[in-house]
Amino acid sequence: MSQAVALVVAAGRGERLGSHGPKAFVVLAGRPMLEWSLDALRAVPEIEAIVVALPENARTPSGTIGVVGGRERSHSVRNALAVAPPDADAVVVHDAARPLALPEQFAACLAALEDADAAVAAAPVTDTTKEADADGRVLRTLDRRTLWAVQTPQAFRRAALEAALDQPDEVLARATDDASLVEAAGGRVRVVASPRENLKVTTPLDLRVAELLLAQRC
Ligand code: CTP
Ligand code: MG
Repeated sequence: MSQAVALVVAAGRGERLGSHGPKAFVVLAGRPMLEWSLDALRAVPEIEAIVVALPENARTPSGTIGVVGGRERSHSVRNALAVAPPDADAVVVHDAARPLALPEQFAACLAALEDADAAVAAAPVTDTTKEADADGRVLRTLDRRTLWAVQTPQAFRRAALEAALDQPDEVLARATDDASLVEAAGGRVRVVASPRENLKVTTPLDLRVAELLLAQRC
């Protein structure tokens, strides 16, 4: 893959965090959360442009292309892809809610596209994981050695992502990541080992952990 474009989805409301105002703009170790991801992306040589899906009325960060996000996460990805420069043949999607991602994690996912349609950052699962029914009755214990907790960045051959997103709104709304849409279409998806530190800020606890880890970097 020669040139790549980054799509950063930052249009969520952050309901589980319970912040005033959108989560991507919550201040974390002295800067809006979104800025940490943008810094990491600017340090990746393959990335020629950064598109950010934003909440209504948010200011577009300098040096990026802003677009208003959609109702669900996948709709925001689709909106961002629609305004991405057409020449890039690789696309890397990233959640603004993962401010700890490093430039080398973006580069590693892009490099893994050599023999895949999509490559996703993921950490080996450390907890024993069980499947249970709605009443809490355990159905089975999964083999932890084969399980990965999937993160972003997620890199895609552009054509594969475009095809995966070309579906009705309600199909997209059910997808919690973009790679699952590529899998469903029969695409080749790889995991790229990534540290658990690349956490997603979902709850107030995550925010405290991210704050501690980012403060150590300053
Ligand atoms: N996102 C988005 N557009 C949406 C929903 C989510 O761009 N309609 C983005 C979020 O900004 C975040 C990422 O997708 O960077 C992952 O979503 P999540 O962690 O669920 O964030 P929120 O949707 O903001 O949080 P919550 O679900 O708690 O409201
Ligand atoms: Mg959400």
